[in-house]
Amino acid sequence: MTLKRIGILFGMEDTFPWALMNEINSRAAKSGEEIEAGPVKIGHIAQEQSYPEAVILDRISHEVLFYRTYLKCAAARGTQVINNPFWWSADDKFFDNIVAQAAGVAVPKTVLLPHKQHPPNTKETSFRNLQFVDWDGVFAYLGFPIFLKPAYGGGWKDVYKCDDREGFFSAYDQTRDLAMMAQEAIDFTDYYRCYVVGREKVHIMPYDPKQPHALRYEAAAGTPVPEAMAARLTRDSLALCEALGYDLNTCEFAVRDGVPYAIDFMNCAPDADVHSVGAANFDWIIGAMADLLMERARHPRPFEATGTWPRQLGLA
Ligand SMILES: Nc1ncnc2c1ncn2[C@@H]1O[C@H](COP(=O)(O)OP(=O)(O)O)[C@@H](O)[C@H]1O
Ligand SMILES: [Mg+2]
Repeated sequence: MTLKRIGILFGMEDTFPWALMNEINSRAAKSGEEIEAGPVKIGHIAQEQSYPEAVILDRISHEVLFYRTYLKCAAARGTQVINNPFWWSADDKFFDNIVAQAAGVAVPKTVLLPHKQHPPNTKETSFRNLQFVDWDGVFAYLGFPIFLKPAYGGGWKDVYKCDDREGFFSAYDQTRDLAMMAQEAIDFTDYYRCYVVGREKVHIMPYDPKQPHALRYEAAAGTPVPEAMAARLTRDSLALCEALGYDLNTCEFAVRDGVPYAIDFMNCAPDADVHSVGAANFDWIIGAMADLLMERARHPRPFEATGTWPRQLGLA
């Protein structure tokens, strides 16, 4: 048997990557299996090169585009890359809401808006196709308050809660050339973040987004999740990740009148820092990811362009 390498590609994170590599290496040492985890090493990328990793876990290519290309090329040579770098390059939060609807998951009413400012290298004449937005129609459809947030974003940046027209336009004026979604605010009684691993395992974490960042998990920890809600969150999280083809994700849900609305479920490199998620959630994600990465090293899956959404939308 030849040695199978599991590479972790990561950035500023200090806890999760190292603990995951240690977990995999100590499991392999115990069982004698020829699997080894370590950081991916990248210099320049040559067209003819081969890729030493059987599996790569990507935690950073959304911030380092050069790495994204490494991952696509590695996938083209047979490396199992988690998450799929092709599909992650293609989707966005607004499109993913349409996928969610096709997968039978409730999402808030949402519209996508044109950029407030001209993107680089464009001017007025670049927008011959663009019509004025029917703002009255948008506000009548969504109702206030409205969340304004980037379709291609994450990390709670450029997210605004707007209580009225005036607040909305003063927020929109600050959004530069981002493509923003305007979304019905869900006035929630409960909020959950779910780790979803391998489109198979779901770990539900009560979460209180109204607390300061450092307390969001801690403040809600220990809140019991009613059985029927746990079943629904599990079903919906799996349906989303199956449809989108993501092997590691967090799906966030806000519950209104007993219905979990999917708020944010395109978190392909989700926060897994022990200092924010807490020890119990951290242990869960380390264990589940070690299982997944080792399993993919043993049993690679055939290449797939994306998840099951083309079938669910009746296109394939
Ligand atoms: N439609 C909404 N209804 C209620 N709260 C929302 C809604 N959209 C976003 N939020 C709040 O804003 C936070 C950040 O928005 P989110 O969609 O999760 O973006 P990000 O990818 O930046 O985390 C959420 O955790 C939630 O607390
Ligand atoms: Mg979020």
